[in-house]
Amino acid sequence: MSVHRESESKLSRYGGTLCGVFTHALCALFTGFIAALSRPGSSLFSWHPFLMTLAFSFFMTEAVLLFNPYSSPVKKLKHKAKGRLHWLLQGSCVCCAVAGLAAVFYNKHLGGKPHFSTWHGALGALTVAAAGLQALGGLPLLHPKLARGRSRAELKRYHAASGLLAYLLGSSSLFLGLRSAWFGGVAGGFGGALAPLCPVLCALVVMSQVTNAYMARKPMQY
Ligand code: HEM
Repeated sequence: MSVHRESESKLSRYGGTLCGVFTHALCALFTGFIAALSRPGSSLFSWHPFLMTLAFSFFMTEAVLLFNPYSSPVKKLKHKAKGRLHWLLQGSCVCCAVAGLAAVFYNKHLGGKPHFSTWHGALGALTVAAAGLQALGGLPLLHPKLARGRSRAELKRYHAASGLLAYLLGSSSLFLGLRSAWFGGVAGGFGGALAPLCPVLCALVVMSQVTNAYMARKPMQY
């Protein structure tokens, strides 16, 4: 029985590591792919897909994966240091997201086009607001004086649940961006057809990591 349980946990460790490594590679490749297509700096608009992908596919995914028990690149760091790094990555995500939003907003303003008039545009604006609020909401975990009597465990649960929601909003906005006429025009063939799978697969991995950490009978150190 214990041999069976041991081999089962070995299997889930290998599976978790493999899945994590695959996700690190996928989010970096996807960000590189969008950077190659958009060629940041070639036009004002070009900054939008690049910065948004860097924000939500790279920074936000890495900010969550650094707590992954199997594939964190900083597994050996103390939990407090991981928390600081997490906040730094989320801060970078918000900065890139605000700059990416400013680029597309100003570009539309110059072209005299209406704002937030598509599903992608409306959900995207909500996503940037959610990412900003989420980063602010994490402050009481970093500075317990701001917690106002709430227990750390309770704060962590709220932070994880709202963080997952912000991540899913980011993935959905990325997905809708990949359905835009702009993307259809620049990305042809196999790469263009496979690209929408990237935010979907990363979202599945992040969803499984967060729900396992908070809904397992014996919660993981997060
Ligand atoms: C999570 C990531 C993203 C967010 C939060 C986001 C957000 C937004 C927002 C708020 C707008 C509307 C701006 C306005 O109306 O003034 C917009 C427009 C646009 N975005 Fe994104 N975006 C993201 C990723 C992408 C990606 C990856 C692409 C391309 C592959 C893209 C392509 C476009 C295009 C073509 C427009 C102009 C047309 C429209 O308004 O739908 N976006 N985006």
